[in-house]
Amino acid sequence: MQPRRLRGFQDIAGAQARTLAAVEDCARAIAERHNVSEIRIPALERLDLFQHSSGETSDIVEKQMYAFVDRDEAETTLALRPEGTPGVVRAYIEAGMDRSEPEQRFYYVGPMFRRERPQKGRFRQFSQFGVEIFGRADAATDAELMIMVDELRRELGLELNFEINSLGDGECRPRFRQAVLEYGRAHLGELCEDCRNRLERNPLRLLDCKIDVKLAESAPRSQDYLCEHCRAHFATVRELLADAGVAHTVNPRLVRGLDYYTRTTFEAISIAVGAQSAVAAGGRYDGLVEALGGAPVAGTGFAIGVDRLALALDAARFAAHADAAIAALGDAALRRAMSLATALRGRGLRVEVLAPGRGLKALMRRADRIGARYAVIIGDDELARGAVTLRDLAASTQTEVAERDLAATLAAARAAARA
Ligand code: HAM
Repeated sequence: MQPRRLRGFQDIAGAQARTLAAVEDCARAIAERHNVSEIRIPALERLDLFQHSSGETSDIVEKQMYAFVDRDEAETTLALRPEGTPGVVRAYIEAGMDRSEPEQRFYYVGPMFRRERPQKGRFRQFSQFGVEIFGRADAATDAELMIMVDELRRELGLELNFEINSLGDGECRPRFRQAVLEYGRAHLGELCEDCRNRLERNPLRLLDCKIDVKLAESAPRSQDYLCEHCRAHFATVRELLADAGVAHTVNPRLVRGLDYYTRTTFEAISIAVGAQSAVAAGGRYDGLVEALGGAPVAGTGFAIGVDRLALALDAARFAAHADAAIAALGDAALRRAMSLATALRGRGLRVEVLAPGRGLKALMRRADRIGARYAVIIGDDELARGAVTLRDLAASTQTEVAERDLAATLAAARAAARA
């Protein structure tokens, strides 16, 4: 039997893995600059956590969960997390922070699982980098989240369009929901099967239906139903985004696929990814902490689809090249090579000691294949002189360099290549 990976799952290595790591590192640094701290939460939770937060009628819960009954804990149905928000909210409540210190700022990064139909940019396991901020009901926090994504856009050199909307709050959202429900009922015969089935339970999903596009266009718009507070909140978000130079458009159909959103919702869209173009998305979820048994604390956040965002980047930019491949010709040379490599790595250089026991030609082939800038050759003669032969693999030239000068020579070459 030859094992094969599952459909929608990926093996990621080399430049592609480095691209993902670069996105995650960049997002992490930005979050830390915004005084957001890391939280690590389990990949496995009870299924009902997601039913009560992401929503019974969300596609995620209805169709996409990897759920199973735990053999040890009888009757407990578990699920691989399809998103990070519910777990973070659970952890926040479980630690009692909603009562002791409600204002908290968390980020997380890790794999999420959704049994979706795989296509470009859509996987069944994918990495999300998410931020969740609790205890801040102000518009500045919503704006700050989008500013973080915009900083990522700038630092990675991406083109992104921000789309935003407001769904209203406990006061005005019900009126909007009712209006969409009545609109849906009036057009019941024209709705697609999904929208018809969930109309009474979740009418807002009609607005972002990929099939009923025409109907959605003339459906009621949340903007027209916002109460005064929500209208002011949304206007402030937009003003603060404009101040920060974050270009955005209002998309009245942006209701998002998850049930917990109130007020601000947003997506960051990349034109480089194709159909699956939302590379980050989020919004406010002021009722969620309370709905999961906590205190009435405001919440707002977003998640970046790391794999999807990485597709918009040129992986070649992130390819790694060894500064040096060390070829040791003989046992004594190998021992010197090992200690030299340690010293070079201590200076931050990327170094591989090539497999011993092979001829120089084979060793140089390997050095070429790993894209090393230099081969460092150590034979008996070099050993005796306390030197190495340094071969520039691109220029095919070589010189002898004293061992003590090697690190400085390689570091200078690296700096010159970067300049
Ligand atoms: P979401 O829109 O479901 O929101 O996912 C956020 C991002 O994750 C998407 O914009 C996309 O880039 C990426 N993503 C989602 N599904 C896939 C997939 N199958 N393959 C690849 N990438 C995918 C949430 O998950 C919310 N928890 C975001 C949030 C945090 N809202 C408030 N706080």
